[in-house]
Amino acid sequence: MYLPGLAQYTLYHMVSLTNKRIVVGVTGSIAAYKSAETVRRLRDAGAEVRVAMTRAATEFITPLTMQALSGHPVHLNLLDAQTESAMGHIELARWADAVLVAPASADFIARIAHGLADDLLSTLCLAARSPLAVAPAMNWQMWDNPATQSNVARLRERGARIFGPGSGSQACGETGPGRMLDPQDLVALLAGMFETGELAGLNVLVTAGPTWESIDPVRVITNRSSGKMGYAVAAAAMEAGARVVLVSGPTALAAPEQVECIRVMTAQEMFDAVMARVDTAQVFIGTAAVADYRPAQAATTKIKKTSATLQLDLVRNPDILASVAARTPAPFTVGFAAETVDVERNAAAKLRAKRVDLIAANLVGQAGSGFEADENRLVLIDASGTTELPLLSKLRAARELIHHIAVRYHAKNPAENPRLAHRQ
Ligand code: C5P
Repeated sequence: MYLPGLAQYTLYHMVSLTNKRIVVGVTGSIAAYKSAETVRRLRDAGAEVRVAMTRAATEFITPLTMQALSGHPVHLNLLDAQTESAMGHIELARWADAVLVAPASADFIARIAHGLADDLLSTLCLAARSPLAVAPAMNWQMWDNPATQSNVARLRERGARIFGPGSGSQACGETGPGRMLDPQDLVALLAGMFETGELAGLNVLVTAGPTWESIDPVRVITNRSSGKMGYAVAAAAMEAGARVVLVSGPTALAAPEQVECIRVMTAQEMFDAVMARVDTAQVFIGTAAVADYRPAQAATTKIKKTSATLQLDLVRNPDILASVAARTPAPFTVGFAAETVDVERNAAAKLRAKRVDLIAANLVGQAGSGFEADENRLVLIDASGTTELPLLSKLRAARELIHHIAVRYHAKNPAENPRLAHRQ
C-alpha cells in the first residue's frame, strides 16, 4: 500500500497521544481483527482508550480481547446496566478527546451520515462534541458505490476526518480501494489531528506548583496548589508545537513528556530559574502559586513548641510575573489569578498592576473547580475584553488557553507567521 506523505510523517514525527482520551469504535468488518493492534498502539502512544463495539463487530473479534487490551470493560449495549452505570454512553461521549471508528463498515458510515442512533456506538457518535475520525473498511465495489461516496462526503462536510481507505488485496480476494489503513498509520493520523502547530517554533516558559519557604528544617510556608493546571498548560503548549520549559515547585506530578522540567523549592529559586531562561522565551505563563513572603531567617534547627505564641518575621519574595513583564523586550506574558471573590474585577486590576498581556482568572474555594480538582473554570482577561470558558478538565481548559494565547501572540507579532496572525 502506498500512502503519499504518511510514511514520512511517521518517520519524522514522534507520535504522541499522551493524556489523550480516545474512544475506539469497532464495527462489523473483517478488518475488526486489526482493532486489537490499533488499541495497543494507541496506548503505546500514551492514549487512554475505551472501546465501543457494534453487535456485528463482536462476530469478528471478542469484547474480552478488546477489554484486555484497553484495560476497561467494552461498551456494547445501550441498555447494559453494568457498563452504563460505570460510565454511561453520554458520559463516554463527553469524556472523549476524539472518537476513532476503525474499522467503519459501509453500513455504519451510512447510519452516522444520516444521524441514526440505533445502537450505542452510533448514539455516541451523535452525542460526541469531540472530533470524529472514520477509517472505512469494505469491498472496493461497496466503497465505489455512489451511495457510500455521498455518505462519506456528507461526513466530511460536517468535519469528520476520513482516514484512508488504502488500496490493495482484499479479504474477498479482489483488489482495489477499501482496505482499512494499518494501525500505526491510523495512530499517526490521529496524533496529527491534535497538533495545531499554533506555537510551532516558539519557546514557552511555564511556572507551576507551589513554592516552599522554610521556617525551619521541617516546616514550610506554602500556598495550596497541586500543580495540575500548570502541568496541563505545559502539555498543551507542547501539543501546539512549542519547545517548553517547565519550572516547577514541589508537586507529586510527573513532567509531561518532551517538556524540560526544572524542579525548584523556593520562590527565590523559581525566580532565578526563570530569569536564567526568560531571554530565549517568546511566551511566559506564570501558573505557579508563589508564596508572597518567606521567613526573614530560617531556623537551622527545629523550633520547639515551648511558647504559647510564636512570631515569625516575613520578608517579601520577588514577584516573578511582574519582573518578567517589566523586561525589555518582554515575552508575551500570561498570569494566573486565583481569587475567592470578585474574580473579574480583581483579575483586571492584576492585569494592569503587573502589566501583563493576559490574565487567566479562576474562582477558588468552590467544590469541583480550582485547587487540587481535575476541572477548572477560567475567565480570560486582556486589554480587548473578557472570555469566559465553561467548566472543563484542566487539560482542555489549558488547550483553550493556549489557543487564546496563540491568536493574541500572532496578532501582536504578525511578521513571524502571517498565516496564523489572521486566525480568530
Ligand atoms: O499572588 P498573585 O495573586 O499576585 O499571583 C498572580 C500571578 O502572579 C500568578 O500568575 C503567579 O504565578 C504570579 N506570581 C509570581 N510571583 C510571585 C507572586 C505571584 O510570579 N511572587
